[in-house]
Amino acid sequence: KPRTLEDLPRVSLWELLYRLTIQGFHSRTHELQILEKERHGPIYRNGMKAVSICTATLLEEVLRNDDKFPNRGDMSIWKEYRDLRGYGYGPFTENEDRWYNLRVVLNKRMLHPRDALQYGGTLSEVVTDFIGRIYLLRQRPTGDVVADLNNELYRFSLEAIASILFETRLGCLEEKIPTGTQDFISAISQMFSNNLQVFLMPRWSRGLLPYWRRYVAGWDGIFSFATKLIDRKMEFIQQRLDDNQNVEGEYLTYLLANAQMSIKDVYGSISELLLAGVDTTSNCLTWTLHLLSEYPQCQEILFKEVSTSVPAGRAPSAEEVTKMPYLRAVVKESLRMFPVVPMNGRVVADRDVMIGGYHFSKNTAFNFSHYAISRDEHTFPEAARFLPERWLRDGHRRGGPNAFGTIPFGFGVRGCVGRRIAELEMYLFLFHLMRHFEIKPDPQMGELKSICRTVLIPDKPLSLYFLDRRSGHA
Ligand code: HEM
Repeated sequence: KPRTLEDLPRVSLWELLYRLTIQGFHSRTHELQILEKERHGPIYRNGMKAVSICTATLLEEVLRNDDKFPNRGDMSIWKEYRDLRGYGYGPFTENEDRWYNLRVVLNKRMLHPRDALQYGGTLSEVVTDFIGRIYLLRQRPTGDVVADLNNELYRFSLEAIASILFETRLGCLEEKIPTGTQDFISAISQMFSNNLQVFLMPRWSRGLLPYWRRYVAGWDGIFSFATKLIDRKMEFIQQRLDDNQNVEGEYLTYLLANAQMSIKDVYGSISELLLAGVDTTSNCLTWTLHLLSEYPQCQEILFKEVSTSVPAGRAPSAEEVTKMPYLRAVVKESLRMFPVVPMNGRVVADRDVMIGGYHFSKNTAFNFSHYAISRDEHTFPEAARFLPERWLRDGHRRGGPNAFGTIPFGFGVRGCVGRRIAELEMYLFLFHLMRHFEIKPDPQMGELKSICRTVLIPDKPLSLYFLDRRSGHA
């Protein structure tokens, strides 16, 4: 008789609450994954009654059993906000065939690597402006030290994704940033910072505790920013139509022109795409710069690759930059060590499944402890070391680590829709930055630790030295 859910080691809700509150794991839930794996093994029932999955092989078993319309789990508090304000659901919140129909529309012009390449020119312009901004910041009294890179990279990522989604430049990299932009950045932070509390606390506590109010205010900020930009685009399109001019565009124009998308759907989807596209790439770049400054030998290899693969003075094409092995390995390794989405999940709804020798009936919720999985010594020897080399395959050694050891963009049809855009954006960014600057740690900053605010972020502003390679200074 196979073992079942009842036979799994389990963590009680009280134990979970004790760890989150008294022991302070509420902002370090990724570290809690490692602790609980040590205590309960690779598969156990967690404090939220879901099954926690903590090894690459078990993760593969679950994901190979993914439903036709995969479901990530309880999104009720995200839906609740949208219902409250009358917005449509986007790709994160929608499920079943409605989700599928939405993805069919959203995937076009975005999902395929070929789709992403068409944004190479737009993204390169944003990267060039960012490099210009670094030169500008170095003229301040702090000189080569650039402080609060987290915020600078946030502005970069927002500018980059907005240039694609809204087909327009926002101006986030200019000296004075447009009004509303900083509010939008703070709104994302506010929503994410209160998400876990709203999820865990009972509904009756909403009027008594501040979390729900802050959470709703965060979403209001996100939606009001996105809807304003969409409305502006619609006015522009209308103006051109009134003047009998051609209406051409990339992403938003395509969505607005799509008969299957109502304006309510466009608001819902664009807001979620915008949200997903800012926090993720900006934090991934923050971690990558931090790691490159801590591992100068890796930075040197990367510099050699970027300076030899494309002649000096010529910008790489989007295609070239996606084919640079070390550059790709640097981003992959950085996402392994700091998976910006450290926890994910699936509810297998279609049928019963056997995972790790246990039988689970349909509708079982699985939580993936990605942080613990990608720092597993069995899959990744010297897991705490930044070793991009582990992703370089020579002709003799095929295979490499288990592919499910690190899946930072998720898996299958429900995987990240923006993956190719995010990768291209990060490759172009790192290519140009490495060409211009050598980066070094700022000893004043102290140790940078990670905290989990739904995404994995640094616990303090990153500060680095940017030494100009052109002046031979570096
Ligand atoms: C470093 C950058 C990024 C990382 C690490 C990342 C990671 C992820 C992960 C782990 C998921 C869940 C996938 C799954 O459940 O299998 C996801 C979903 C998603 N991502 Fe990304 N993402 C990044 C950038 C982006 C960008 C730039 C966009 C927008 C253009 C985006 C839009 C989305 C959307 C809309 C979903 C939900 C897809 C669905 O449920 O159908 N992401 N992402």
